[in-house]
Amino acid sequence: MPPQLFDSYGRGHDDLRISVTDRCNFRCFYCMPEEGMQWLPHEEVLSYEEIARLVRITTELGFVSYHLTGGEPLLRKDLDRLVRMMLQIQPGMDLALTTNGVALPQMAGKLYAAGLRRINISLDTLDAQKFFLITRRDVFGQVMAGIEAAARAGFSPIKINAVAVKGLTEQELPRFARWARETGHIVRFIEYMPLDADRSWERGKVLAAEEILEGLSAEGELELTSGHPSDPATRYRYRDGKGEVGIIASVTRPFCQACNRLRLTAEGMVRTCLFSNVEHDLKALLRGGASDAEIETWLAGVVWTKTPGHLIGQKAFVQPARTMSAIGG
Ligand code: 5AD
Ligand code: SF4
Repeated sequence: MPPQLFDSYGRGHDDLRISVTDRCNFRCFYCMPEEGMQWLPHEEVLSYEEIARLVRITTELGFVSYHLTGGEPLLRKDLDRLVRMMLQIQPGMDLALTTNGVALPQMAGKLYAAGLRRINISLDTLDAQKFFLITRRDVFGQVMAGIEAAARAGFSPIKINAVAVKGLTEQELPRFARWARETGHIVRFIEYMPLDADRSWERGKVLAAEEILEGLSAEGELELTSGHPSDPATRYRYRDGKGEVGIIASVTRPFCQACNRLRLTAEGMVRTCLFSNVEHDLKALLRGGASDAEIETWLAGVVWTKTPGHLIGQKAFVQPARTMSAIGG
């Protein structure tokens, strides 16, 4: 079924990103403050049944792509149960999970058995000390073990997401490129976005797509490969056939004009954009006795309010009050 929900700019929506928890066991500097995070009380977080209801409704509205995020989604108990529920609602859905990887040694097998096939692991460096500086947690070895556990469980290819920050990522490019070529994991670099709690983002700290591409090219000649039009990553393959890398240029080449996404926060708010300053209270409807038909009409109205794109780098840009962990990547 083609998408049923359109915004006022003609963009059809068929992709939902679901944050299952605001909690995280890391404190990545570009996402959270080191101390003082306050978590939602359990009863404010949507239950799996409530999430499944929205999955059912959006399936009827033509959504085909779903993404589980956090916080750290594997902190939510028995996430494999939600995976099963979702795949039962729409068996052919394109379902992916983004995780920091630390719980994968325990969870990878269960998730694969539940039917999950796509996994994105966040890892910004292959150096244990730098890893600690970035995440403020000394668990590099566990994340590497998590990546291996995912590969052993059957996930293939595994996507690695690395936030690209000036002064930090330059030295990682050749290392990651060689690693991608050796392991077959797809490493994707994401331009650093202004979503950090400490508000220390500056345009000058963004390692731009051009610079990333230059660093990656030093390891071999790259060629463009095509992806899905709404895939925000530009994908490249090494010409010798060994290794694939990607760049998500959210800042220097925004892909807003092809955006097909809606976001659901852990506490049941719908957001039309990562950078939106408005949230739409779905939980009130879910818990207030609204019918499926009422929720469908409401969602259509929410999508219609979507703005054309973000204004990062421009004067009018206002950083969202909530960090990436609260919004859901
Ligand atoms: N800029 C770019 N990417 C970010 N992420 C979190 N915060 C930022 C930011 N400020 C990424 C994480 C993870 C995903 C959930 O979002 O690295 O891959
Ligand atoms: Fe946790 Fe991900 Fe935020 Fe890092 S980026 S603190 S792993 S939610």
